[in-house]
Amino acid sequence: MAMTRRRFLQGAAIAGAASLVPIYLSRTAFAGYTYTPNDFINPLAIPREHRGEVFNGKRIFNLLLQHGETEFFKGYKTPTIGVNTSYLGPVLRVNRGDKVAINVNNALSQPSTLHWHGVHLPAKMDGGPHQEIVSGRSWHPKFEIKQPASTQWFHSHVHNYTGAQVYQGLAGLFYIDDENSQRLNIPKTYGVDDIPLVIQDRNFNDDGSFRYVTNMHERMAGVLGGHILVNGVVRPRHKIGHKLTRFRILNGSNARIYNLHFSDNRAFQQIASDGGFLEKPVTLTHLRLSPGERAEIIVEFQNNDDVMLQHKPLPSLNAGMGMGMMAMMMSGGNTPFQVMRFSASNIANDTSEIPETLASLQNWPEQQVNKVRRFGLDMTMGMGMMSGGGGRSGFTINNQSFDMQRIDEVVTLNDIEIWEFTNHSPMPHPVHIHDIQFRILTRNGQPPELNEQGFKDTVLVHPDETVRLITRFENYADDTAPYMYHCHILEHEDQGMMGQFIVT
Ligand code: C2O
Ligand code: CU
Ligand code: CU
Repeated sequence: MAMTRRRFLQGAAIAGAASLVPIYLSRTAFAGYTYTPNDFINPLAIPREHRGEVFNGKRIFNLLLQHGETEFFKGYKTPTIGVNTSYLGPVLRVNRGDKVAINVNNALSQPSTLHWHGVHLPAKMDGGPHQEIVSGRSWHPKFEIKQPASTQWFHSHVHNYTGAQVYQGLAGLFYIDDENSQRLNIPKTYGVDDIPLVIQDRNFNDDGSFRYVTNMHERMAGVLGGHILVNGVVRPRHKIGHKLTRFRILNGSNARIYNLHFSDNRAFQQIASDGGFLEKPVTLTHLRLSPGERAEIIVEFQNNDDVMLQHKPLPSLNAGMGMGMMAMMMSGGNTPFQVMRFSASNIANDTSEIPETLASLQNWPEQQVNKVRRFGLDMTMGMGMMSGGGGRSGFTINNQSFDMQRIDEVVTLNDIEIWEFTNHSPMPHPVHIHDIQFRILTRNGQPPELNEQGFKDTVLVHPDETVRLITRFENYADDTAPYMYHCHILEHEDQGMMGQFIVT
């Protein structure tokens, strides 16, 4: 009896973080900060890989948007939304050149959409707010994959409720393979030495349900969660059995910017960004990833390695610039925290390697630019905002809040353009453009870091910073259906920091 009681108490002590759930679930103070590596005991979930079915020359996927329940904390069922499962969705996998046909069935009690973030496709197939699927109906996008191997993703993009639906789980990964990705001798066995990591942060109520946007601060700064989830698992541990392991990391959080590194500060190689492979691997110890961005990295492990993946506050936001303090507060504070744990044993002697060159990337010459567009990002704390959103939205691009009926920009098909985003607000905004992948020319006049020199579709724009991008709008023109560009802090997007362009 004594033994049982002692065990119970020990259990409770360890579980301070692990299973004394009611206290920790709702605590807004960052629960993640208090964990130690030993609290990271839950096996990392690997989403199902879904290649669809090839029929009549098309790769066909059947997707069901569904309500469900997910047990993130033992004994607590959280109402969630998922694609073909209760939370998140399978990794959809296609090849360059595939003709893809997707049946999206909405079994939710609310309208939704499915947007293919990072995928180059016709505007009508994009799954933005204009392609709404009402409850009980379906949508059948068809498109051809015309872009290089890359890690893309999909998520709800429904008008005004993108943040809420993604928060509940409506997102997943979309992998594109091509001859290059198959030829490269990099780790590429799904779930074995090629591991997806979807990083999200969430708040919970005491009953286990998600708690989303409860106050003015969350509406302004975006919702920062007190619990970190990787592939829908809290406090995950992943066992490593391969010398080289590739991680495809998606920041699937609504608002949190991560500055990821390992607890032993080991170096790793970034091999791909949003749009696919970099030209060469880039050695890093820290990886900044803002909402919507992806990075593929290769990490080398040795037997008995036991390391944490952690977040450390961003130095770039700590700097003494005028708004630095506020920017830091609004982008997650200055406390480090743990994300997940990796434990290596029985390391196999693989033959995979990190090649010196990965791809050769297309560059658009600046002399051939047809047009330069400028975009100012603003957030104002006006009366409308303070009184609970009844008045004018405080989130604007070029002083305008999103309007589904207004086309903001008209682009000519096949033009090469420079888009310049200047952030006049006190917090950083990850700017995302649909349809295309771009190259970053400069950040405040300086060339971007090496790992930002590949193809991107989302770029973090700091306070007082101007980021210049170059891209070409190819293949798809449509006089009526627009594409979106917006801040990928989903609370900002939902409150109007979004515009529309058509390609004609
Ligand atoms: Cu990831 Cu407009 O979206
Ligand atoms: Cu997108
Ligand atoms: Cu924003």
